[in-house]
Amino acid sequence: MLRIEGLSKAFGNANVLKNVSFSMKDGRITAFLGPNGAGKTTTIRALLGIIRPDTGKFYMDTTPYIPEQVNMRKNISFVLENASLYERLNGYENMYFVAQIWQLEKSMAEERIKKLFNELEIDYGKKPVKLYSKGMKQKLILARALLPSCRYLILDEPLSGIDIPTKHIIREVLKKEKNNGKAIMYSTHILEEVEELAQEVIVIAHGEIRFKGSINEFRSIDNDIETAFMRLVV
Ligand SMILES: Nc1ncnc2c1ncn2[C@@H]1O[C@H](COP(=O)(O)OP(=O)(O)OP(=O)(O)O)[C@@H](O)[C@H]1O
Ligand SMILES: [Mg+2]
Repeated sequence: MLRIEGLSKAFGNANVLKNVSFSMKDGRITAFLGPNGAGKTTTIRALLGIIRPDTGKFYMDTTPYIPEQVNMRKNISFVLENASLYERLNGYENMYFVAQIWQLEKSMAEERIKKLFNELEIDYGKKPVKLYSKGMKQKLILARALLPSCRYLILDEPLSGIDIPTKHIIREVLKKEKNNGKAIMYSTHILEEVEELAQEVIVIAHGEIRFKGSINEFRSIDNDIETAFMRLVV
């Protein structure tokens, strides 16, 4: 379990995160919902050590987690909003480069890449990335995040701009990872997809956590999840 406790962050006079606390549980997919500007990406950036929070503590199980410490940070892989690839390298080379950063052994890396390409139906690994469509890039970005097989996976809007067949493939891969015991959190604006994928829901608005609980608890707010969401964020 990855836990955030009392996270606050201000940019100038703007209090962007206000005492945010929640956890990501093992073997669960947690949907992180909130309107534009609610603080989702800022929360994720703090968790990854990209920005320094004003207050707040993180824990991996019961051990304090300090994002700057590589030995703990390496348990988390992620896809950020607007993630980019090495455009001049092909898909395979992009993956292999990352495998080297994670210090994966050569044959193990090759095997993992092959498996992920197969699962995500990436049959265009030999083409340079600059020729990829948005959906093709998005799948490669996800494959790259899955490569080290980290215990925690954090995805910032991984399914935005993705067609229905590709979404289906990605969803199946995420479910499989979850069933293998990973704790996955992803932010999204697509509520129908939350019912399909998530067991846990967190709603943030104006930097405050407005809801955290199971998908059934979320649904019990209102039969229509869009109405439930609106009631929480106004
Ligand atoms: N480096 C920064 N400097 C100043 N303000 C920032 C900075 N980063 C984020 N903000 C502000 O923090 C607020 C939360 O932004 P954040 O990107 O976390 O929202 P979000 O929930 O991810 O929204 P979206 O759904 O649009 O991606 C916004 O008002 C944004 O302008
Ligand atoms: Mg965002």
